[in-house]
Amino acid sequence: MHPFTALANPNIAFIKYWGNRNDALSLPANGSISMNLEGLETRTTVIFDTRLPADEIKINGKIARGMAHARVSKMLDEVRALAGIQHFARVESENNFPTGTGIASSASAFAALALAATKAAGLDPSTSSHRPGVLPGYHPDVLPGGHLFDLAALSRLARRGSGSACRSIPGGFVEWAAGTGDADSYAVSIAPPEHWDLTDCIAMISTDHKLTGSTEGHTMAGTSALQSARVDDAPRRLGICRHAILNRDFAAFAEIVEEDSILMHAVMMTSRPPLFYWQPATLAVIQAVRAARAKGLPVCYTIDAGPNVHVICTWAAAEKTAKLVGNIPGVREVRLAKVGGPARLVENSSTILMRFE
Ligand code: DP6
Repeated sequence: MHPFTALANPNIAFIKYWGNRNDALSLPANGSISMNLEGLETRTTVIFDTRLPADEIKINGKIARGMAHARVSKMLDEVRALAGIQHFARVESENNFPTGTGIASSASAFAALALAATKAAGLDPSTSSHRPGVLPGYHPDVLPGGHLFDLAALSRLARRGSGSACRSIPGGFVEWAAGTGDADSYAVSIAPPEHWDLTDCIAMISTDHKLTGSTEGHTMAGTSALQSARVDDAPRRLGICRHAILNRDFAAFAEIVEEDSILMHAVMMTSRPPLFYWQPATLAVIQAVRAARAKGLPVCYTIDAGPNVHVICTWAAAEKTAKLVGNIPGVREVRLAKVGGPARLVENSSTILMRFE
């Protein structure tokens, strides 16, 4: 068996995923829309090896134990079952951006793992068989040997590792349909990266590890009286956002992205116990972005489960936006990311795994 390495970008959601119908399978309460973030990436190498007594997992240079190990092993178990193999695996995964800070590292991590592990297990996943567009009622079969293991199947596998990871499998602008069950809850590309030159200027306010991660947050969403209203209204927001992206309508896009992000944070803040991810600088960025848009700059904000603010603008406005946001007290750094491509396999994985021996 040979090592395989995959790369995946994290993604930023414009219509957010928050709360599950089924926590074990990450079947979301509502559909979501995102774009992949170019330049930020997880690189993961996997080899299955008959000599191993257990899965050996290294994340960012450290041996993974406890929950982190269990979560990766669970996905490897699924891949083993699909491929009909029993051997344990060596996994090495590295991010080129800080984890646990509102840049969804679990998304790129489980997307890269799903691709590298299926390939290493001989399933031969194909990311090229993908046709853009939503495929209603699609039921992909997954066979040992992998002939029908396509992009939808890979997205579903990634989803079961971390919900938002299913959106890091296809490229560009991506929609994850809530679906009716495991078979039809996966993500597809609604437009390629070159469709619209949006840029995410990520205002880094804190790189500390957050206290309550999204996995726990999802289980609390239903304790907020606002969650059912947020979920019931999701089809409307998805429709507006999809339409705005397809028509490159920044004004409509900005309104719906900000509304959706605040709806999610309203749910978080009214959950029991309440979740407050914002810091004072988070609100300062929100206000500066709204003021700049009122003066004509094509810019809007969205915030995940952390204090950092993703300030979305067109590439033409990126320099001005980065300067504006970078000058706000409490913003430590601004990272720019354009629209990223799909999860992909890369060559030369053997050099990485040598360091395990
Ligand atoms: C706020 O996909 O990280 O970023 O499935 O438990 O790993 P798990 O959750 P995760 O949740 C992402 C939540 C969010 C919104 C979004 O990305 O849609």
